[in-house]
Amino acid sequence: MTTVPGFARRIDAARLPALLSAMPKAELHLHIEGSLEPEMIFALAQRNGVSLPYHSVEALRRAYAFTDLQSFLDIYYAGASVLRTEQDFYDLAWAYLEKAAAEHVVRAEIFFDPQTHTERGVPMGTVVKGLARACHDARVRRGTSAALILCFLRHLSEQDAFDTLQAAMPYRHLFIGVGLDSSEVGHPPAKFARVFARARALGLHVVAHAGEEGPPAYIWQALDVLKAERIDHGVQAVHDPALMQRLVAGRIPLTVCPLSNQKLCVFPDLRRHNLKTLLDAGVVATVNSDDPAYFGGYVNANYRQVFAATGMDAGHAWQLASNSLEASFAPVSEKKRWMGQLVECFESFVG
Ligand code: ADE
Ligand code: ZN
Repeated sequence: MTTVPGFARRIDAARLPALLSAMPKAELHLHIEGSLEPEMIFALAQRNGVSLPYHSVEALRRAYAFTDLQSFLDIYYAGASVLRTEQDFYDLAWAYLEKAAAEHVVRAEIFFDPQTHTERGVPMGTVVKGLARACHDARVRRGTSAALILCFLRHLSEQDAFDTLQAAMPYRHLFIGVGLDSSEVGHPPAKFARVFARARALGLHVVAHAGEEGPPAYIWQALDVLKAERIDHGVQAVHDPALMQRLVAGRIPLTVCPLSNQKLCVFPDLRRHNLKTLLDAGVVATVNSDDPAYFGGYVNANYRQVFAATGMDAGHAWQLASNSLEASFAPVSEKKRWMGQLVECFESFVG
């Protein structure tokens, strides 16, 4: 475990919410389709002549009462159906990146689900080019470093994932990695062994959702079969001491999403969330927003609420922010620069 610097211990608890908001951080688990706010769903539906089964933004929001992952995914895929043109994808990503910059996110690694769009007849290039243009503009106009990770939908076949990777090849320079998301239970990582091997051979980074609702065995598979460099969620690892040892010893990051876990009933209450347990055990855990438009908050709301609920302190804040920078796939030179900014930020809160 990296040590927490002494100055982090000298920060007044009353200043913790402001520190959490101000500290430079990386967001590593954000589905761009999950940042589609109800207001934008209605605006894009009108722009594209799509009819919605809801009368108003408020009626749509009222439908956001989830009991588990699948109950959320059904609404999430329906919402994404308003995205049609390259400009739609640009507008979506730009809206997220502006919010991220305001929350001191210095690095965003953004998931996108191309199969959700290509199966509706939207070309791969429309999706990737719109998102990538927004990432480029975020760097130029806001100084935010942003990169894309293409996710395969695990409820579909491995062949479908192969076809998707093939269709994305003309845009290989516009994304840095592949991931695995959608309905977890019944779709173990090993189902995608060969397509992940292909992605690795192409020089892509690999990550996978595992241990959100699924068992620790799925996390082992993501590590041993897919060779995942990070685990998305991974909160079920606490039930397997040998797995916890593996995560700690290998410094394998978990991209944890507290408000998502609360909304999808992974934990009965945010006060029962195991983020503090993971951190105190030495796991390289990070805080992320997953699908902020659906789960009630962006990354800083995730930090603030989970800290308030579980009684974490400025030492945990240091650990989480530095973990997020370390766990990112950004160049080492950029990580060093952000670590310097993190030290400066913490020092400004001492006394
Ligand atoms: N797609 C979007 N959000 C997801 C989540 N929390 N788990 C799995 N797939 C997702
Ligand atoms: Zn996710």
